[in-house]
Amino acid sequence: MITAAGDRDVHFEPVSLAARAALVLRDNDTGRLVTASPRLYPHMWSWDAAFISIGLAHLDVGRAAAELDTLLAAQWRDGMIPHIVFTTDTDYFPGPDRWGTDAAPQRPDGVRTSGICQPPVHAIAVRRIVDIARRTSRADGELAETFAQRAWPALYRWHRWIVRHRMPDASGLLAIVHGWESGMDNSPRWDEPYAAVVPGPDLPPYVRLDLLQVDDPGERPSDVEYDRYLWLIEQMRRAGYHPDKVVQTSSFLVGDVFSTAVFALASDTLAGLGEELGSPHDQIAELRTWAEKARAAVAMSCHPETGMARDRDIRRGRWLTTQTLAGFAPLLCGGLPADVERQLMSTLDGPDWTGHPDLLAAVPPSVSPSSPDFDPRLYWRGPQWPVITWLFGWAFEQRDWPRHASEFRAQGVHLVSEGSFGEYYEPFTGRPLGSTNQSWTAAVVLDWLCGV
Ligand code: SER
Repeated sequence: MITAAGDRDVHFEPVSLAARAALVLRDNDTGRLVTASPRLYPHMWSWDAAFISIGLAHLDVGRAAAELDTLLAAQWRDGMIPHIVFTTDTDYFPGPDRWGTDAAPQRPDGVRTSGICQPPVHAIAVRRIVDIARRTSRADGELAETFAQRAWPALYRWHRWIVRHRMPDASGLLAIVHGWESGMDNSPRWDEPYAAVVPGPDLPPYVRLDLLQVDDPGERPSDVEYDRYLWLIEQMRRAGYHPDKVVQTSSFLVGDVFSTAVFALASDTLAGLGEELGSPHDQIAELRTWAEKARAAVAMSCHPETGMARDRDIRRGRWLTTQTLAGFAPLLCGGLPADVERQLMSTLDGPDWTGHPDLLAAVPPSVSPSSPDFDPRLYWRGPQWPVITWLFGWAFEQRDWPRHASEFRAQGVHLVSEGSFGEYYEPFTGRPLGSTNQSWTAAVVLDWLCGV
């Protein structure tokens, strides 16, 4: 295993950085799947797997396809792609016994999974794998296309599950029933709805294992937050993981504007792939309609003065105004009038965000350093996450904004050039935090360095 550098005086040139990234993916590969990280996350996470497969495509297209095949083999019978596919490792909590999904009728046989989902980035990964493979060789291109043919119907069913079960109110936003579903677990976006989650006295006791795997517990969510996380799982268990019952009973139900924008972008991407692959016309048309509706929902959410997109607390019928990078969601999927979009892009470039004078690298922090909610070391409350930079950069390319795309790529590489592939980074010092040798960080670095 490569050892973490974590020292900003060290700087790897592109070729050695790419080689180190490839080693991280190799070291974290169990054969069936690449774990999200060696110790803190010894299982497969849904959106991690998508980004990881993009990195793998630069090394071995067949292995990239196998990664998503493993994830899709765990797709629930109703279409949901679960957020964790468990290995046999027992060093992570909550594991499959705590989730209690073995009793869920929709779970496929032969795998153990969690019972919630994560942002639907998977179609983007398949698109990227096909593009990388076609550039590599004719044989790789054909391999990737065969894989895309195989994955397409499963991804269509995944998007259909979201439309059927997770767009419950007139806002049209994709609703989440747990902060973990956003992927941005403890973002200040969720503070208000989480304040209304009151764990019952019958919350079964538990022991956190995550704190054993980081240098400083201050980089992870608090115990009060964990009680709420575990209470929501308890509520879902009691609802038997029936998707509509979960939405009816969860004390956390929030329209997630970032996931909605990802859904719009991914639905269009899947439709475009389907056109190339000859997928059914009616399903392609549905995807385009879903993308259009999701884009409109993102645009509708925007604050009339700041133009920033907002989440919605569906339980309480309230917009959530906390300013985080999710406010830039419309830049991922479009849908804003041109002048509003320009203003939003200049806010992103401005001194409260990527243009903040004290940032080591000009990529968006998870919360603006000017916000009272900002904490430079605390998970989704301030640090920079390379995968988010990748996602915006990829979307900017699709939207024909090459200058922004290449700046994000260059600054992203600058952030990670000390070579330890942190899970997230302290924005002023560039210190890697959380886990090191994080697979999705290594994967997006490979794509930045080998891509185009
Ligand atoms: N990110 C979560 C964790 O910290 C789970 O999805 O364990």
